Amino acid sequence: MDLTRRPRRLRRDGLRELVGETHLHESDLVAPVFVDATTDEQVPIESMPGHERVPVSEAVARVEEIQETGVESIILFGIPGSKDARGTRAWAEDGVVQRALRRISDETDVFTITDVCLCEYTDHGHCGVLDDGARERWERVETDGGVAASEQESDLTVDNDETLDLLGKISKSHAAAGADMIAPSSATDGMVGAIREALDGAGYTDIPIMSYAAKYESAFYGPFRDAADGAPAFGDRRHYQMDPANSDEALREVDLDVEQGADVLMVKPALPYLDVVGRVDEHTDRPVAAYNVSGEYAMLHAAAENGWLDIEEVAHESLLSIKRAGADLIVTYFAESVAETL
Ligand code: PBG
Repeated sequence: MDLTRRPRRLRRDGLRELVGETHLHESDLVAPVFVDATTDEQVPIESMPGHERVPVSEAVARVEEIQETGVESIILFGIPGSKDARGTRAWAEDGVVQRALRRISDETDVFTITDVCLCEYTDHGHCGVLDDGARERWERVETDGGVAASEQESDLTVDNDETLDLLGKISKSHAAAGADMIAPSSATDGMVGAIREALDGAGYTDIPIMSYAAKYESAFYGPFRDAADGAPAFGDRRHYQMDPANSDEALREVDLDVEQGADVLMVKPALPYLDVVGRVDEHTDRPVAAYNVSGEYAMLHAAAENGWLDIEEVAHESLLSIKRAGADLIVTYFAESVAETL
């Protein structure tokens, strides 16, 4: 047995840090913020301990709280005062995200990213405009209180091309309100190109796009859909979000988004998809983001509340692993708590 080579030699205190391959910094982290037009006080999000929806009047205070931990960027989500078939509040000049953004960019120097999607703004909760078949089924849900499960599974849901125009409008309105980067998450084919064109046409040529390029139809979004009130009222998202079975497909999505002008490519969720994070990182020379989603946060907290896991340790290990897999930046509900320990 040859024991001249002993990997353990490098695992001593003082040396371990010097030879460490992955380092986590506050500057890698993006904190999600929920602004809510339906309330004038903070509303705790039960399934995400430590997170709340805040009214526009408290958006700046919420951001300052985040910045105190050393985290310097946020991604903003909005809960509108009213919803309709086309999600018109998503691009309203006095929309909840637009109002919050104006205050945040006037009063703080945080880097602001905005999520561009329609699911929080449409009454049916889908990420785009419904096509004719789906609209007809949705109307029956409204009048008769339901449609048969077999009908819900029909392939027709969102009208892809009609949605593109609306995503462009939302993006322009966010840029006008002070967004520093636009992050489309609607899983619409052609969304990056349509948004790039809309932004450039309005003079926002310097605003980058972080595309949710490999966005899976995942059950790990459950707590977010409660938080942002964006669950589909019927059917599901498998006709536009990616099949969890696939990773070659993620590379095709990435190539399309790069062709259309994406500046940063995101994989979502993160922990169950670290292989995809790794493949995307090898595949592209663009920065890679990973979204450590609501369910990943909620399950660790639930276990910690039972005394089964140490939340500080598992949170740190989770984010470190996401970076090790190849992510350059991480959107995470752990941003503040982990930053405080770094
Ligand atoms: C909007 C959007 C969702 C998430 C981020 N943007 C919900 C969804 O796609 O259903 C989920 C984030 C999370 O779970 O933390 N489309």
